[in-house]
Amino acid sequence: MLDRLKALEASALSQIKDATDLQSIESLRVQYLGRKGKLTAILRDMGSLSAEERPKIGKHANELKNRLEKAFDDYLAGLSNRASGQKPNPIDYTLPGRRGYAGKVHPVTRIYRQIVDIFLGMGFDLAEGPEVELDYYNFEALNMPRHHPARDMQDTFYIDDEMLLRTHTSPVQVRTMESRRPPIKVIAPGKAYRPDYDVTHSPMFHQVEGLMVGTDISMADLKGVLSVFVHAMFGSEIGLRFRPSFFPFTEPSAEVDIMCVICKGTGCRVCSHTGWLEILGSGMVDPAVFSMVGYDPEEYTGFAFGMGIERIAMLKYGIDDIRLFFENDLRFLNQF
Ligand code: FA5
Ligand code: MG
Repeated sequence: MLDRLKALEASALSQIKDATDLQSIESLRVQYLGRKGKLTAILRDMGSLSAEERPKIGKHANELKNRLEKAFDDYLAGLSNRASGQKPNPIDYTLPGRRGYAGKVHPVTRIYRQIVDIFLGMGFDLAEGPEVELDYYNFEALNMPRHHPARDMQDTFYIDDEMLLRTHTSPVQVRTMESRRPPIKVIAPGKAYRPDYDVTHSPMFHQVEGLMVGTDISMADLKGVLSVFVHAMFGSEIGLRFRPSFFPFTEPSAEVDIMCVICKGTGCRVCSHTGWLEILGSGMVDPAVFSMVGYDPEEYTGFAFGMGIERIAMLKYGIDDIRLFFENDLRFLNQF
């Protein structure tokens, strides 16, 4: 039996040496080591051996099997090295290294920080309020009682009768005035939610609210602050316009549009072919709102504004669909 094993090893090794390609080496491996191969055939006869011979031959057979396996593997390694023209065990020091992956700040976050910086530079403080808000702060205290038709201007995600996802950052105005006395000069950046979904509307978006209250704040202050902001953000060349508008919590009210940077004012799908893009709503704080927070409307005046951060980011970067910001597509995000 020992002789049969030796003969098998000799013939296997010489055949491996003469093999020329992958296919022949694989078929040899099956022929010798496969389940129906030659080695198995020999081992099947082990039953006829005596009890003392059996372990000896078994050990032998195992060692033989390991040697053959190594011979097959060595042959294959040599084959693949030859195929790629490399010497065995190559380390190619000239290959470029693997680049580490560095994360980047999201474009909305970048614009958010720029906006905040501009207003902090003008002396505004930061204020904040909850995203899950009471109906009272989101609507009622802003001069929109229940069933007031102006509530339809902002479609709303309600949680229950009393609570909702805030549709704008304006409730922070009310919370700030309730907890402080004028003079007030704050901005309140944060998330807002509305059941909206198209190229310029996203169900979750960001606004920066602004509020300035004192004894002699006028519409000229509003116009000055917002003009400074727009020019700091977009450069002194950009065209902007104050367009009369309506909000229940400001009187008079104006929306600010800037010239569409995508089409340079000629009209495209982003600006609905008007050449202008609305970036914010604003106005003089309505006396009714002052009364709700216990301020004397005869004593104080103020202005407020609320701007859409994604809209500003779209204009700044020339992006024609707001939804790109929230799809987490790295091909998009890596460009910033
Ligand atoms: C308001 O939300 C008012 N609270 C703004 C305001 C504040 C007026 C203070 C007066 C005083 P409006 O619904 O127009 O207004 O939204 C303001 C801005 O938020 C818009 O100009 C737009 O830039 C942005 N915006 C509104 N809805 C969406 C949305 N679904 N997706 C992205 N941006 C939005
Ligand atoms: Mg609007």
